[in-house]
Amino acid sequence: MKIDILTLFPEMFQGVLGSSILKRAQEKEVVKINLINFRDFSTSKHKTVDDYPYGGGNGMVLKPEPIFAAVESITDHEKARIIMLTPQGKTFNQRIAEELKEEKHLIFLCGHYEGFDERIREHLVTDELSIGDYVLTGGELATMVVMDSVVRLLPGVLGNEGSVETDSFSTGLLEYPQYTRPEVFREWKVPEILLSGHHQKIEEWRRKESFKRTLERRPDLIDINKLDEKDRALIKELKRD
Ligand code: ADE
Repeated sequence: MKIDILTLFPEMFQGVLGSSILKRAQEKEVVKINLINFRDFSTSKHKTVDDYPYGGGNGMVLKPEPIFAAVESITDHEKARIIMLTPQGKTFNQRIAEELKEEKHLIFLCGHYEGFDERIREHLVTDELSIGDYVLTGGELATMVVMDSVVRLLPGVLGNEGSVETDSFSTGLLEYPQYTRPEVFREWKVPEILLSGHHQKIEEWRRKESFKRTLERRPDLIDINKLDEKDRALIKELKRD
């Protein structure tokens, strides 16, 4: 996968791209990530990228010219998904991450402080995403969130491939509780069943705990119509408890 990031603050990405999974994915050449400062594409004397809004009002608006020029400088940009990060976008989730991981080329467009000229939205961008109902100073942090969740899904990035499949949301349910050594910590014991070595019983316990947690915390994630008889019975039992 190739990822191009258009930003006025490329230095914000150094920590995230130079650590952990995103670092490893680049080293393994599963992904090539390229930072582009679109100020470099301004043709004005003072390298301006924004201007006052027509019609008046507060704040500045990002001009179309440098952003169009920066995108058009990217090889094969016509085939890429061009993703703008704003609070007005569609709310990002695991389903969208799964969809984006199939793409060969993503271009992320980050604004900062200010809005985008509407023509960028109408004639350049293919997707507009938000990472939640709150306002960030810019699209950079949102781009890091989306990029991280997509890149970790690419084959060969995570050591243990199974861990993606059991993540919260991949199964449609929240993750079950996990424990490691010691067996007793400050008098708090690990549930007996996990020490039993009885794989089928452990699977059943985990599925039940996943449902329990999801019912308690995110009942909106459970679609009764999509469950089989066994899981419906499990839900009934949990609701009774
Ligand atoms: N830019 C500012 N706030 C944002 C948000 N919540 N999601 C995506 N991009 C943003």
